[in-house]
Amino acid sequence: MKYSRYSTVIIGSGIAGLYAALKIEQQTNLNDGILLITKSKLGESNSRYAQGGMVGVLKENKKDSTTSHIADTIKAGAGLSEFNTVKFISENSDSVIKDLLKFGVEFDKNEKNEFNFTLEAAHSVNRVLHSGGDATGRMIEKTLTKDVEQNGNIDVYEQTVAVELLVNNNECKGVIVFNDLTGEYEAIYSSAVILATGGIGQLFKYTTNPGVATGDGIALSYNAGAVMQDLEFIQFHPTALALDGGENRFLISEAVRGEGAKLVNADGVEFMHKYHEKRELAPRDIVTRANYNEMLQNNTDHVYLNAACIDKDKLAKRFPNISRICLENGIDISKDFIPVAPAAHYYMGGVKTNIEGETSVKGLYAIGEVASTGLHGGNRLASNSLLECVVCAYEVANYLKNKELNPPKQIDENLKTIIDKYSKELYMEELDTESLKHELQDIMWRGAGILRSEETLTNALNEINELSKKFPRSVKCLNKEEYEFKNMLNVSKLIINAALQRKESRGAHYRTDFPKTFEEGTHTIIKKGEMSLVK
Ligand code: FAD
Ligand code: SIN
Repeated sequence: MKYSRYSTVIIGSGIAGLYAALKIEQQTNLNDGILLITKSKLGESNSRYAQGGMVGVLKENKKDSTTSHIADTIKAGAGLSEFNTVKFISENSDSVIKDLLKFGVEFDKNEKNEFNFTLEAAHSVNRVLHSGGDATGRMIEKTLTKDVEQNGNIDVYEQTVAVELLVNNNECKGVIVFNDLTGEYEAIYSSAVILATGGIGQLFKYTTNPGVATGDGIALSYNAGAVMQDLEFIQFHPTALALDGGENRFLISEAVRGEGAKLVNADGVEFMHKYHEKRELAPRDIVTRANYNEMLQNNTDHVYLNAACIDKDKLAKRFPNISRICLENGIDISKDFIPVAPAAHYYMGGVKTNIEGETSVKGLYAIGEVASTGLHGGNRLASNSLLECVVCAYEVANYLKNKELNPPKQIDENLKTIIDKYSKELYMEELDTESLKHELQDIMWRGAGILRSEETLTNALNEINELSKKFPRSVKCLNKEEYEFKNMLNVSKLIINAALQRKESRGAHYRTDFPKTFEEGTHTIIKKGEMSLVK
């Protein structure tokens, strides 16, 4: 096996990973360099597909204030957001976004050259910055990817999967990676391993997330003994384009509702007034359950979004990608109803961290969607995740500035047992991971989806235990898809166990057998072999 040493290793090339790499390079003088590894092509990530935008509580937006943003975030978070985290992220959004602009990121402006703030659900004022109309993620990711590629101090490994963290005595000293093109393994020693591995949407049959969102960071850090928080909280987006057969669903941004689009049933009748006073701009979990309920009542697999009430030119200018993708599928959004249905979208749960990304394992950090900082609570406010990615990337870099980063020079005997597991040649027959994955996604959608109960969750767990028997891998796998599926199985079980533990409904976690919300919010905490509810 190959060995190498880096002062810092960042796993994941979404906006959190890319920006962290750039900030660390800028602020820290690292003798052993920075490595960014990513399991697909650089930049392929959930970040790339972000549409609506990034919350920016900017000083020049006189209608907005951190007080208002904090209040909106906490209200949406359904009693589980951590006040200090929310406050910190909100108060730092102005300076971090201004820093992002220095890296070449641009946001859309109006004719007076002022930022064009938009509105999304459950925000009390227009405060969402966007770029390229509805291509915010793509525009930011493209700029940061170019910056990373041009930076001679950041090494990049593409098509490389992190398969196990090198942890001993609750201290992370590196990571084992697998090159999916050559089939080779490498042990990388590092004093700071930063997980920026994103979300878990691929665990569910219908998702807005691309193929890379398989929950790897959760599985890796759980296996390494890190503490997980609120793993049952998955945000289902209410409006993903629902075309026959399409399971990876294209998002129809909440910003379309922000600009005035209405949800209607098959008869063209609006229904959101029955569910919430804010109608289409109610918190996301409420709109999702409303759509789901309408679909169940009318025995259909979608409802519709009517955007024809928005000025045609505005629609084309503000949502060029959505207009184009819909048109390619025979839907002219300036006059046709858009078929939409809920899909798994964002993971509020994750590796428990503080604002600097520190996990409960020394030397292991987590930032972006993989982390649970306490910002989102039980239900994320739209466009807060990109903000969290950049603020926490900035903070982890700031934190590491003051650390001695000297990766171990020799192979630690205690780490050798981990490394040896990947050094052995094993004969393994290829498995049909694609069909196993479909089976798992279907089980999770039915059993641990938008509405759950003891019965659906327990059945799902039993089905997953049966499915696991068809996957005879515990450590070494044959290819990237197998490593991903191994992680998906493990994370699915963790989610179900957390969801069984929470015997109430709160935010995005809805138990049909426990519809009430407890007065006091508690977090589910899971660590290898231990599970608890804490205030
Ligand atoms: P990601 O961007 O998902 O990046 C994760 C990276 O880790 C990827 O490069 C992946 O390949 C890599 N990786 C994963 N596992 C491994 C492994 N084992 N080894 C190596 N590499 C690995 N949020 C907003 O705030 N505003 C929006 O408008 C918005 N719109 C969205 C629209 C869509 C369609 C989607 C899917 C999400 C949207 N979100 C939005 C959510 C937001 O995009 C994500 O939460 C955010 O981009 C996550 O960034 P990240 O850097 O943490 O992870
Ligand atoms: C959207 O554009 O609707 C997604 C925004 C988000 O997930 O924050």
